Amino acid sequence: MPKAELHIHIEGSLEPELIFHLAKRNRIALPYPTVEALRAAYAFTDLQSFLDIYYAGAGVLLHEQDFYDMAWAYLTRAAADHVLRAEIFFDPQTHTARGVGFDVVINGLHRAIIDARRRLSISADLILCFLRHLSEEDAFATFEEALPYRDRFIGLGLDSGEQGNPPENFARVFARGRELGFRIVAHAGEEGPPAYIHAVLNVLKAERIDHGVRCVEDPLLVERLVRERIPLTVCPLSNEKLRVFPRLADHNLGVLLGHGLIATINSDDPAYFGGYINQNFTATFDALQLTNAQAYRLAQNSFAASFATPEVKRGWIEKLDACFESFGAGTA
Ligand code: ADE
Ligand code: ZN
Repeated sequence: MPKAELHIHIEGSLEPELIFHLAKRNRIALPYPTVEALRAAYAFTDLQSFLDIYYAGAGVLLHEQDFYDMAWAYLTRAAADHVLRAEIFFDPQTHTARGVGFDVVINGLHRAIIDARRRLSISADLILCFLRHLSEEDAFATFEEALPYRDRFIGLGLDSGEQGNPPENFARVFARGRELGFRIVAHAGEEGPPAYIHAVLNVLKAERIDHGVRCVEDPLLVERLVRERIPLTVCPLSNEKLRVFPRLADHNLGVLLGHGLIATINSDDPAYFGGYINQNFTATFDALQLTNAQAYRLAQNSFAASFATPEVKRGWIEKLDACFESFGAGTA
């Protein structure tokens, strides 16, 4: 089924095999003797336990070619899963704090995206995420460094540890981003409370909520998200691995769709959570017993919620319709 992926951290697509390959190429010693030992460390108890390993893994990325190789691997994998459009997060502060230039990061990622358009027929763009455990001053400094490359990313996002790091802390840097015409998204309601989702809408004026699954704790918020047609980029395997829900069978994706929310399925950090986008679909559909009509709705939502032009979105949805027709699967 053709689809868009709207919530993927490129650093979260760094597979253990590629971490070892890049460590060797860059002569970096890893604290794990083998790929298997590294993979065995991927036993998370919450968001922070994951982030500690995720930021450490990104330490092997030094040169433009490293960023290219990581992005190319993801784009190849996504194209194989029939992703027609990917809106890809990157965390520049994770790299600039280690002395890697912003230009090195963006040039490698951008080159992979250009090659993928031509060689894989996949449309992709970048969204620059600020790390919310750092200060707004740090975010501003990063944004300043990024502005000479403003034609190479389409939006701004907010990620990293949610608890205790409310969106209001980043009001000014997002206001500046909006003035300059960037699209706005933000993580909220993954581990943080519904109040953070309200703040992301009221203060940052986000156009999409990343995760957002805790919105159901606030019925007025759910009504608002439906009324204002704010999409949620939901990541089921991530939510299972980070214990947002005890088991995938307890996930509220079916409930979100039942409320009429514009929910989508995404992989978040596929190298760490056991699956790319199609595995997120198949595992979730198995666990929740969702229907063909819900599959159609999720894919349609993914295109509708993307930052492409209306005309381009229409073309993708026509492809989706043709796919469902060819399988004789109902869409309603
Ligand atoms: N960075 C990478 N994955 C993330 C997630 N699921 N939540 C917050 N920050 C992240
Ligand atoms: Zn995320």
